[in-house]
Amino acid sequence: MPHTIALVGGTGPEGRGLATRFALAGHRVAIGSREAARGVDAARELAERLAGHGVAADRVTGGDNAQAVADADIVVVVVPYAAHRATLEGLRSALDGRIVVDAVVPVVFDRGPRPVDVPAGSATEEAAEILPASRVIGAFHNLAAEVLLDPDAPVDADVLVTGGDAEAKQTVMALAGEIAGVTAVDAGPLRFSRFVEGLTILLIGINGRYKAHTGVRIAGLSDHQ
Ligand SMILES: NC(=O)c1ccc[n+]([C@@H]2O[C@H](COP(=O)([O-])OP(=O)(O)OC[C@H]3O[C@@H](n4cnc5c(N)ncnc54)[C@H](OP(=O)(O)O)[C@@H]3O)[C@@H](O)[C@H]2O)c1
Repeated sequence: MPHTIALVGGTGPEGRGLATRFALAGHRVAIGSREAARGVDAARELAERLAGHGVAADRVTGGDNAQAVADADIVVVVVPYAAHRATLEGLRSALDGRIVVDAVVPVVFDRGPRPVDVPAGSATEEAAEILPASRVIGAFHNLAAEVLLDPDAPVDADVLVTGGDAEAKQTVMALAGEIAGVTAVDAGPLRFSRFVEGLTILLIGINGRYKAHTGVRIAGLSDHQ
């Protein structure tokens, strides 16, 4: 069944990249921004780019973050970590009961990527603390925006999914698995999110050294999926 997926902070490369892949998979996407006009512009550009790929323009909309989440059954959070808490607090009541997928990596750049110490343990656990009435899941942290943004580029990566709400996790794993080339892996409860988020910092460093856009693959699961 097609979902309506909101991208909070969706004007950035990761949000536009994930929106690209969700739209290609047949879902409706809503690009959210602090400024409604920026969300609308990003949606128009994305719709134009995907017009030749069988995506109807009316399946890609944009607005401010509150407008974007209003009709969504899945909300993906893709703001910088510095904006994480304030953004979620501002949307808290709108996100009640929704599946909220946190893809935020607590990282700062200071002569290379460095992890930010998160008191809750991880950005995803922080989201669960801020949004006690939402169904918070961690996913998509390890997918490079540069690859996602090119509708013709193959994605060759696993998506590690964390969370305690089994039904919500299954929904997000199915969504991840619809991205061509992606395998979804159940990475356990929310408390393991710190490792998934931390892996991205490792990948950013590897990307810099190899001038590549890397992802992760978990070995040894081919007989179990
Ligand atoms: N880039 C990647 O390859 C990648 C891969 C995996 C995970 N991630 C994670 O995904 C998230 C988004 O990454 P990105 O590269 O797309 O980030 P980004 O471009 O720096 O930020 C995304 C959007 O967040 C909004 N934003 C910026 N500052 C904000 C603030 N102070 N308050 C509220 N909203 C703010 C902006 O949208 P508006 O100005 O339109 O509001 C911006 O376009 C990050 O947490 C990152 O760690 C990124």
